[in-house]
Amino acid sequence: MPKQDAQMQRKVEHLFLAEKFFTDESFADFDSVRLLHDALPELRMKDIDLSTDFLGNKVALPFYFNAITGGSKPSAKFNSELAQLAHHLGIPVSSGSMGVYLRLPEETRESFTTLRENNPDGFVIANVSAKANAKQAQVAIDLLKADALQIHINALQELAMPEGDQEFFWLDNIKDIVANVSVPVIVKEVGFGISQQNIAQLYRIGVRNIDISGFGGTDFAQIESARNHELDLTYLDRFSLSTVESLLESAPYQNKMTILASGGIRTPMDVIKAIRLGASAVGMSGLVLHHLQKYSLSEAEIFFDEFVKQLKLIMAAIGARSIKDIKKAPIVFDERLINYMKQRNIN
Ligand code: FNR
Repeated sequence: MPKQDAQMQRKVEHLFLAEKFFTDESFADFDSVRLLHDALPELRMKDIDLSTDFLGNKVALPFYFNAITGGSKPSAKFNSELAQLAHHLGIPVSSGSMGVYLRLPEETRESFTTLRENNPDGFVIANVSAKANAKQAQVAIDLLKADALQIHINALQELAMPEGDQEFFWLDNIKDIVANVSVPVIVKEVGFGISQQNIAQLYRIGVRNIDISGFGGTDFAQIESARNHELDLTYLDRFSLSTVESLLESAPYQNKMTILASGGIRTPMDVIKAIRLGASAVGMSGLVLHHLQKYSLSEAEIFFDEFVKQLKLIMAAIGARSIKDIKKAPIVFDERLINYMKQRNIN
């Protein structure tokens, strides 16, 4: 198979395997955080406001659909439905990596542009790898008339991939992209989390928006192991950071950067807890992929409409009228997380 076709095939396999390995259970450590309710909420349900700031724009809800796919036939159908669902909810939506578009524009264009066509006024995010240059990143942005750009950093995934990269010199490249593209840039992991030291490195080169995308949901060590016929690399997830751990790592940067959280989001309670731990908004890939792949667009709309209602219900229960109020809710950590924070010098 020519190399290009292999890249398109990889997109098909990722979609298929992510759904195959999806479980309702999350390993993102949200169970280790308890949120305490407010027995005296002093509010009206109809006054609860779920809108939030997303990279300087007001959005209706505090969650977004994170990077998934593009570049194959199944991706085109998937992205068309994903965009319609994002439009229905009024939330930001991201493209999967557009590297394949940069190499094969004719063959793959529509699998990406459908994100904009089905969501003409929505907040759309382009996505490139950390080895793309600023010019390529701008091509990806222009194709989608994107409102922001994600740069994914995925060293563990590349190492687990049979055909993965072997060289990882990314910082200068990211710095150059941030300085030269026309929209805000989000640097994101792909489900292994980002440590405080890495956040500091990114801050120093000018990055101001980070999606910590931690461990707990889609697991690329598992997915790439299923694609690798020579090695079982599932143990690679053991030294990644869960979404909760990575959010704790980001604490000192939360007042000078926008911290977004993703990885293993399953319930409205996970969203509220991630915001309580400092996220400005919360991303989902595996969950929306599951609802679109296993069910249908209309069933996914029903699921996410209910999800939104339950976000409001939890906000009422903790006495939060706005997304900002969530950050004041009392929380309690279990011993394992306390131990983690002690060893990592996080207060
Ligand atoms: C992803 N993810 C991803 N991220 C990225 O930045 N570029 C990409 O091309 C992809 N591709 C991709 C394919 C599939 C099938 C999935 C499920 C995910 C990673 C994604 O954006 C997110 O960081 C992780 O999946 C963790 O979130 P969930 O899935 O646990 O909600």
